[in-house]
Amino acid sequence: MALCAFYAVWGLLLEVAIAFGPVPRITWEHKEVQLIHFNDSKVSNYSTLLLSEDKNVLYVGAREVIFALNAVNIAEKQHELHWKVTEDKRTKCAVKGKSEQTECRNYVRVLQQLNDTFLYVCGTNAFQPTCDYLNLISFELGGKNEDGKGRCPFDPAQSYTSVMVDEELYSGTSYNFLGSEPIISRHSHQSPLRTEYAIPWLNEPNFVFADVIRADPNSTDGEDDKIYFFFTEVSVEYEFVGKLMIPRIARVCKRDQGGLRTLQKKWTSFLKARLICTIPDKNLIFNVINDVFILKSPTLKEPVIYGVFTPQLNNVGLSAVCAYNLSTVEEVFSKGKYMQSATVEQSHTKWVRYNGEIPNPRPGACINNEARASNYMSSLNLPDKTLQFVKDHPLMDDSVTPMGDRPRLVKRDVKYTQIVVDRVRALNGTIYDVMFISTDRGALHKAISYENGMHIIEETQLFPNFEPVQTLLLSSKKDRRYLFAGSNSGVVQSPLAFCDKYTTCVDCVLARDPYCAWKPLEASCIDIFKEGEMERNWIQNIGGDASSCSDSEITQLLFVTNTCSVTLSG
Ligand SMILES: *[C@@H]1O[C@H](CO)[C@@H](O)[C@H](O)[C@H]1NC(C)=O
Ligand SMILES: *[C@@H]1O[C@H](CO)[C@@H](O)[C@H](O)[C@H]1NC(C)=O
Repeated sequence: MALCAFYAVWGLLLEVAIAFGPVPRITWEHKEVQLIHFNDSKVSNYSTLLLSEDKNVLYVGAREVIFALNAVNIAEKQHELHWKVTEDKRTKCAVKGKSEQTECRNYVRVLQQLNDTFLYVCGTNAFQPTCDYLNLISFELGGKNEDGKGRCPFDPAQSYTSVMVDEELYSGTSYNFLGSEPIISRHSHQSPLRTEYAIPWLNEPNFVFADVIRADPNSTDGEDDKIYFFFTEVSVEYEFVGKLMIPRIARVCKRDQGGLRTLQKKWTSFLKARLICTIPDKNLIFNVINDVFILKSPTLKEPVIYGVFTPQLNNVGLSAVCAYNLSTVEEVFSKGKYMQSATVEQSHTKWVRYNGEIPNPRPGACINNEARASNYMSSLNLPDKTLQFVKDHPLMDDSVTPMGDRPRLVKRDVKYTQIVVDRVRALNGTIYDVMFISTDRGALHKAISYENGMHIIEETQLFPNFEPVQTLLLSSKKDRRYLFAGSNSGVVQSPLAFCDKYTTCVDCVLARDPYCAWKPLEASCIDIFKEGEMERNWIQNIGGDASSCSDSEITQLLFVTNTCSVTLSG
């Protein structure tokens, strides 16, 4: 247990290091806290997780196996399904130069809830991606063996993301054996759609996340639901020696039907923009996005998009979290300028802001009431001018800037891999977005940010062997608040707080953990979300003022008060 108080003594020495982010106040070693593990000694690569909160089941996609685990206690296995590659396919895969022992296996990459009874599942299947329907009652595959091209990568080492929206699968991955043809597509029996195979649309993307954001049901503009994709790709718009990476947000509209002639069976609503995550006064640019979490809460006016980033050349080991509000994103797509390619002499292309006339209806916009009023009932009716424009100008000139114009968290000596965010109400009513961020060394940071400051409440070593955390999932139902993490070696379930580890009032309050409060009657540090009712005499102070704890305790520990909050100097 490494207390921040210890560092306080060295305050001056550490100031320089701290300028790039706070140290966790406490570190829990792997054995120090109660975590629940799941793994099977014969199985590896537990990289795809799906939580069914209604059924209380955690589905796990591993190498050649799908598990169903009790989500309250993942050590309890409910079902197990083997999904192996046939001998014949494995041999063929090996003949093509792939490793028979590792690459020519079936890595489960898509696990999505289709409806109450079926999951839609896809695996790499020895470089012949295959999808099927998993019956949740019998826990057997339907044997449909659909061609999974465009839904699941061929190569297990290639990036992928997917989201199921109204029984249609949206995915970002690669479309061929070599992995050289990137694609964002919708798998649908009525209207399958895909991206153009062209550099301005997607340029060597590394997909990290996709999710749907529903249109506001109270709005009268008849807007469509939108599916957002997040990836890092090679820049076309900046001149650079070598490949300059750019983090992107792209979006498509759910009711897109493609064009009639131009963009037939292609997205007519595909637009993308650069995500900015920088500290301008320090000249730090975080241009690789590793993961995204979209916080959608009934108490929120609009969803908030959280992303974890690292710089492209990361020799110091820096990571950052930036948050974006949805209206900023929508503003860029609905009102921003477009970019256009201009061929200069020596026949290389340069991308510049397009200042010419923009066709009507606006290229890339969803069909809404305004479009319908002009008799454009579907994307199939859109005029050729609009379609040709969006085909040539999928990239916005305006970028998406983070809330507060700077990162929520910057941390040095760490590579963040995944993020989930829980929105909680502290005892005094203040709302906090608690960020759970995993590292490439098996650890988890729990952090909050407040007016220009940040605080890492704790670090927990989830995996004892320091391997990268590949997936994080959050269950934030009232009585079931857990975090699930997947890695190559297994799955871990963790509570969201370890309040009972704090044995004194001062310790409990100085943790500055919105989940924890001191209960004087029992003289214990409790998880406020596990109690039936909140009581007024509990003690919690996220600012780190422990003066409400009894006097004797305070004199003992007074000198540690409030040493670990860090302000990002601006
Ligand atoms: C699968 O896990 C092993 C370690 O168990 C790792 O070496 C390998 O890279 C993983 N493969 C993929 C495709 O993630
Ligand atoms: C979201 O961003 C817009 C534009 O910058 C701003 O007007 C709005 O206040 C922001 N909303 C929140 C909740 O920060």
